[in-house]
Amino acid sequence: MYLPKEVDRILYSGEQIAQRVKCLGAELTRDYDGKNPLFICVLKGACVFFGDLIRQVECPLQIDFFSVSSYCGKNSTGVVVRDLSKLPDVRGRDVVIVEDILDTGHTLSRLKKDFLEREPASIKIAVLLDKECRREVKGFTADYTGFVVDDLFVVGYGLDYNQDYRNLPYIGVLKA
Ligand code: PRP
Repeated sequence: MYLPKEVDRILYSGEQIAQRVKCLGAELTRDYDGKNPLFICVLKGACVFFGDLIRQVECPLQIDFFSVSSYCGKNSTGVVVRDLSKLPDVRGRDVVIVEDILDTGHTLSRLKKDFLEREPASIKIAVLLDKECRREVKGFTADYTGFVVDDLFVVGYGLDYNQDYRNLPYIGVLKA
């Protein structure tokens, strides 16, 4: 197993992630039965999770992508950078926003507001990881969560540190 020297240990293996993603897919399949939801991947971190998740959802769906960033190194800048002119058209759609991680909550709460202003039929949030203990937007939660994690800097399976490690097939903890 390729373990870069900056990665301390594996937190969730590829197999553990696959099992959990399968469960989330089953929940989404049940909840969107008879609908045609629009799954939106928030780039870049969610790309790997997104690809695996949509293949576990057994109902008609469509996909789109939107790019957002707020992190620099290990810290959130608190500024959610996005180009609203590129926001997918969600009017009247059942939208599922897919993210890799919910941390302070600023990114997803901002994005949810952006989408709600464009009048979707419904909007839900699916995240692979939830760092509940770091929440700054009080009461903000996801509708579908893979794993709740402690305040560790995690990389792999799409998640980066300064754009590195996104290709690791597991979620690892970066050395302090
Ligand atoms: C990460 C992650 C979320 C956000 C979560 O994005 O993908 O978008 O941070 O943090 P928050 O809850 O504190 O707002 P990042 O800015 O690292 O961009 P990336 O997806 O391209 O890695």
